[in-house]
Amino acid sequence: MDLEIGGRVAIVTGASAGIGYAVAKELQENGARVVMVARDRTRLEGAGEALKKGGEVLTIACDVTEQTASQQIVEKTLANFGQIDILVNNAGRAHAGGLMQSTDDDWSSMIDVKITAMRRLCKAVVPEMRRRRWGRIVNMSSIGGIYPNPKLLISHVLSAAINNLTKSLALEIAGDGILVNAIGIGAVATDNWANNMIPALRRARPEFSALSEDEVLAKVSAERTPIGRAGDPREIAAIAAFLSSNRNGFVTGDTIEASGGADRFM
Ligand SMILES: NC(=O)c1ccc[n+]([C@@H]2O[C@H](COP(=O)([O-])OP(=O)(O)OC[C@H]3O[C@@H](n4cnc5c(N)ncnc54)[C@H](OP(=O)(O)O)[C@@H]3O)[C@@H](O)[C@H]2O)c1
Repeated sequence: MDLEIGGRVAIVTGASAGIGYAVAKELQENGARVVMVARDRTRLEGAGEALKKGGEVLTIACDVTEQTASQQIVEKTLANFGQIDILVNNAGRAHAGGLMQSTDDDWSSMIDVKITAMRRLCKAVVPEMRRRRWGRIVNMSSIGGIYPNPKLLISHVLSAAINNLTKSLALEIAGDGILVNAIGIGAVATDNWANNMIPALRRARPEFSALSEDEVLAKVSAERTPIGRAGDPREIAAIAAFLSSNRNGFVTGDTIEASGGADRFM
């Protein structure tokens, strides 16, 4: 299927690794010019170099939680490419633990990256999309926004907020040719899993202490995910690319469940 996004300009946050990198690559392979955003400049530039072989890429090293980040990203994108068509709000991480394991810092840092940065970036790109009467926004959420799991309380409260923000924004700008959707992600094999979920699983289940990260993920996925395995970042990227494309003309305000059938992943 031709996604009809040749020449479109896509901003992808958290694009140096994992799901964000896979999304940037998928959009580029379908002809989009890609703006990749992440904090660690060295890793981001490495990811950007890999994609530059396939087309036009701009890397912007910044923390999306900084107050001026959204404006900087929009200004640099317009200066380089002259337009903004697609925004994929992907930067973030999980916080593993229930209410009693969470601190005020966990709560506020997760809100900063998951909600505040997402809202600011949406607000910053909409005027340009409205001007051209075409736009697509995809917000990365979690399956826990629909099916809360107390083992990931902060992540899942905020995922529900992302789904709600997505629906409201979609309704606010539906008449402007801009479609806004979220993806409710299940267990996908990335650094986020290794850094946040696996340490919590090892603490909760001593039998995992002798297993490698890959073995823990395989075991938990076999237990929790009906298709019997964790997702690949490219499987999320394929959905994000369709939602971001001209071939999606009728889906907006939705949260697409992409979890191999799972309603929880640990
Ligand atoms: N993997 C899963 O199972 C899963 C499940 C549900 C939801 N999700 C969500 O999907 C998204 C992508 O997850 P992933 O698994 O691909 O994570 P990942 O492999 O850890 O990659 C995260 C990306 O976001 C960037 N990033 C993090 N904080 C940032 C910030 N403040 N400003 C700019 N960039 C930032 C990271 O680069 P720097 O560190 O260099 O900034 C990296 O490029 C996240 O929002 C995550 O919560 C993932």
